[in-house]
Amino acid sequence: MSPDKRYHLTTFGCQMNEHDSERMKGMLESIGYSEAASRADADLILFNTCSIREKADERFIAHLYEARAIKRRAPETIVGVGGCWAQSVKDEVFARFPFVDVAFGPGQVPKLAEFLTSDSLSAQGFFEFESFTGHLPAKRAREHQGWVQISVGCNCACSYCIVPSTRGREVSRDPDELVAEVRSLAADGVREVTLLGQNVNSYGRDLRGERRASFAELLGRIDAIDGIRRIRYTSPHPKDMREDVIRAHAELPALCEHIHLPLQSGSSAVLKRMRRTYTRERYLDRVALIREHVPDCALTTDVIVGFPGETEADFEATLELVEEVGYDGAFTFAYSPRRGTEAADLPDQIAHELKVERLERLVEVVQRRAAERARRFVGRRLEVLIEGPSRTDPARLRGRTRHNKVVNFDGIGEPGELVEVDIAAASSQTLSGAMSLVGPLRG
Ligand code: 5AD
Ligand code: SF4
Repeated sequence: MSPDKRYHLTTFGCQMNEHDSERMKGMLESIGYSEAASRADADLILFNTCSIREKADERFIAHLYEARAIKRRAPETIVGVGGCWAQSVKDEVFARFPFVDVAFGPGQVPKLAEFLTSDSLSAQGFFEFESFTGHLPAKRAREHQGWVQISVGCNCACSYCIVPSTRGREVSRDPDELVAEVRSLAADGVREVTLLGQNVNSYGRDLRGERRASFAELLGRIDAIDGIRRIRYTSPHPKDMREDVIRAHAELPALCEHIHLPLQSGSSAVLKRMRRTYTRERYLDRVALIREHVPDCALTTDVIVGFPGETEADFEATLELVEEVGYDGAFTFAYSPRRGTEAADLPDQIAHELKVERLERLVEVVQRRAAERARRFVGRRLEVLIEGPSRTDPARLRGRTRHNKVVNFDGIGEPGELVEVDIAAASSQTLSGAMSLVGPLRG
């Protein structure tokens, strides 16, 4: 293979995809590719796709047509499509988009390498679930922050969700292997790790014998690794959120004071049709337990509006819960029917306009409560991990608190340094302040 081949990769979707993309880049560089500045400069145009909502599909397809235009001018260009959307349409991709050369599901990154290094470059698809990308070399987007995939797949049966069909059944990675991976990240300068899984709380339940470990035990072992100053994870499932994990937030110094606890709906009737297997009361009970053990914990969530059959009363139950909990932030979604999922065939699908109206009402409450919650930080001195220059004012710095709040601040420091910032102002999204004069914390 000629050593000067270049790739361009565009990532859609969740953090799991971001992680897979870092592995894809690492793999490509290990077989001699380097990164191209734009698609037009690339010999290999890759997409790592998402299928969670229809909008994600539409956005991605517009990009795919751009690749077709490039390929018309430069027919040698290879176009590859990986990830959840590819998995959800499988071989259909070649009939619908004949200019695609290779398609592969999540976790099929090694197959991409095989394809690129083989002699035959006729269209091929790889959709068996078999591997973790965690074993592959990674090219990290941020030097001081690393993702660690602790499990793949999902055994839940949420009726709206396409993930169980795109990422298969849940398989946990060996805890010793994960600890070794985090150790090597730490040795490489990583200060913050984010543990990834579709449902991190059920981590380890499929492991047998001596390898068996619970999620809380895994957190404890990672916390003990020298150099790791912050641990985050996403996403937990409220049905499996146990007291041991909540306590870990109070007890383990590196585990951040932030929990992303997806709600989806505040109506027990809707939750039941979503097959979430918890009720409104059980969810609120988890929130109470979190507040009891970690009073200052930031809470964020995901909410879907306009699920089939959602009445005004159901929706108001969601609004009321969001008001009561007072999230520090929330991702809000209009329900989007996905092919092959149970909810797509439910009666009483909600009109688009009504979904949009509910979304607006929900966003108003989310933002108001988030802004109120953020005010508790004003006047406090918080530990901030520097990420780089501020996006709005390059003379300032940008970083993140343990609560996962973005802070723009005046100060001097390098990405990856932990500093203390005096918080002077807060909005629903960001905090603002100035570095305290005591200098960098132990880094
Ligand atoms: N429609 C709308 N939102 C969805 N999500 C998952 N599937 C759908 C769907 N079909 C949302 C959920 C999930 C987040 C990642 O995306 O809120 O937690
Ligand atoms: Fe991530 Fe789900 Fe999108 Fe796949 S479908 S990329 S798991 S959000």
